[in-house]
Amino acid sequence: MATNQNLHKVAAVIGAGPAGLYAAKQLAANGVRVALINRDIKPGGLAEYGIYHSKHKMKQGLRKQFRKILELPEINYYGNVMVGQDSGLSLEDLREMGFQAIMVAVGAQGTKWLGLPGEDLNGVYHAKDIVYHYNRLPPFSTQPFLIGDRVALIGVGNVMIDIAHWVIRDLKADEVVAVARRGPQEVKFTKKEMENVANNLDQAALEAEIERVKERMQAVGQDPQAAKDFILSALPKAKEPVSDSRFLFQFLSSPCRIIGDEDGNVTGLEVEDTKLVPRNGDTKARSLETKRILDVDTVVFCIGDKVDDEFGLPVQWNEFVKHPEPEYPVNDVSFEAYDHEVEEPVEGVFVSGWSREASSGLVGVARKDGENGAEALSQYLEKQAPVNNTDEVIKKLEQILRENFDAVVTKEDIKKLEDAEMDEAQKLGVESYKMNSNEEMLAAIGKQTVPGD
Ligand SMILES: Cc1cc2nc3c(=O)[nH]c(=O)nc-3n(C[C@H](O)[C@H](O)[C@H](O)COP(=O)(O)OP(=O)(O)OC[C@H]3O[C@@H](n4cnc5c(N)ncnc54)[C@H](O)[C@@H]3O)c2cc1C
Ligand SMILES: NC(=O)c1ccc[n+]([C@@H]2O[C@H](COP(=O)([O-])OP(=O)(O)OC[C@H]3O[C@@H](n4cnc5c(N)ncnc54)[C@H](OP(=O)(O)O)[C@@H]3O)[C@@H](O)[C@H]2O)c1
Repeated sequence: MATNQNLHKVAAVIGAGPAGLYAAKQLAANGVRVALINRDIKPGGLAEYGIYHSKHKMKQGLRKQFRKILELPEINYYGNVMVGQDSGLSLEDLREMGFQAIMVAVGAQGTKWLGLPGEDLNGVYHAKDIVYHYNRLPPFSTQPFLIGDRVALIGVGNVMIDIAHWVIRDLKADEVVAVARRGPQEVKFTKKEMENVANNLDQAALEAEIERVKERMQAVGQDPQAAKDFILSALPKAKEPVSDSRFLFQFLSSPCRIIGDEDGNVTGLEVEDTKLVPRNGDTKARSLETKRILDVDTVVFCIGDKVDDEFGLPVQWNEFVKHPEPEYPVNDVSFEAYDHEVEEPVEGVFVSGWSREASSGLVGVARKDGENGAEALSQYLEKQAPVNNTDEVIKKLEQILRENFDAVVTKEDIKKLEDAEMDEAQKLGVESYKMNSNEEMLAAIGKQTVPGD
């Protein structure tokens, strides 16, 4: 195996979610020295802080794989470091230090605001923040999320089901209504995930709702019965209910305004009726201009996320811009960051995972994207002159981290943290235990400064 002394290529990977971790692993396998820099103390991204908190087995399995990646000698890990144009470490800084290429795998950290009146009312949330909250990602872990009795969830994907799962089984709200701009045939959640909440479905209300929209479905050749059967197919293996929450759907309803009282609290959600129009083998929702008000006190947008506009890469249509004619395509996909205003690539910068395509696919998809992105980046590196001493580049990074960041976390620290959390779980007799704040995690590691201090 290559040792770090005889590696003559060096790259930074930003973000240690599935895409960044597997990109780092692939780069290491290709003989590249890697600095893996992560905003959160812990690696894992949404695998740690997105996947539903009670999926212990899946999370433990993924953690085990991530641990193995961090053990690779070619990879240095720097957690608790936010990269960005306004942070203590930017893409330009990394290039100046001598990193020959950078893989941006920071996920999709921006929020998709729709610009609706009332979006700023108390009781309006975005799914990602709530998911971070119940998965204990600081600072969301300690922020209050005031969920009422009647909760509207906008969007009908698996994230909506995760939020419904939490609101129905943990919070036991009276009513949860999933609001879809399209119809029952276009729901995006899977049967498997629906099994978590299917026993709370108000079946009579579902029947009535499908009856209400069936003509609009039939107008585009859809089969209302088949769509209903899919939703109900989750019933045979559905989890036993633990609350009386009623789970409802409102189809062909696009949110247009959130209504509040004089104290700024949500009192309703106005939706516009829509119809379906065929578009490229799929359908689009088109407004019918008629409106209705749903009686809810909380609104959660579960409509996917966008990339962080402030990160320091050009953004268009909620995504980092990719080179339209990539020099290093893998499977016809472009991983190369591109400045569309000057029509030039962002030299040496690549994107993968949800940073390449926001809110798209499972962990396995992000993993493959990270690996393919790493192959594209490796092709680019082949054209770069070798670096005499990659240690020098790593040392420069550690120097800047010491100067600009308070407590940078290494892979050894992560091991200590995992041990401390495992001890705590054992003491409490629970399957998994997570510390709630960065302070608590840093105290468990006994860590306040970066390596070398
Ligand atoms: C609610 C939810 C539930 C899900 N459940 C499942 C599931 O059950 N099964 C499944 O297979 N998939 C699930 N997924 C999908 C899966 O989590 C994603 O496919 C995958 O995590 C995307 O990986 P990524 O590495 O691209 O981004 P992320 O996982 O988002 O990782 C991004 C990483 O970048 C870091 N970062 C962000 N900004 C910066 C910055 N400025 N500087 C440095 N680091 C930064 C973050 O700390 C994070 O570690 C779920 C997704 C969501 C939203
Ligand atoms: N357990 C799991 O396996 C799990 C759990 C969570 C997430 N995930 C994965 O993570 C990815 C992201 O999930 P997701 O649920 O966020 O995305 P998704 O599956 O794409 O669903 C997003 C939903 O939001 C709606 N939407 C988008 N923009 C909208 C707008 N402007 N107005 C109204 N509605 C809008 C979409 O409707 P349209 O269809 O009309 O666009 C769709 O119903 C998916 O690949 C998902 O499978 C997996």
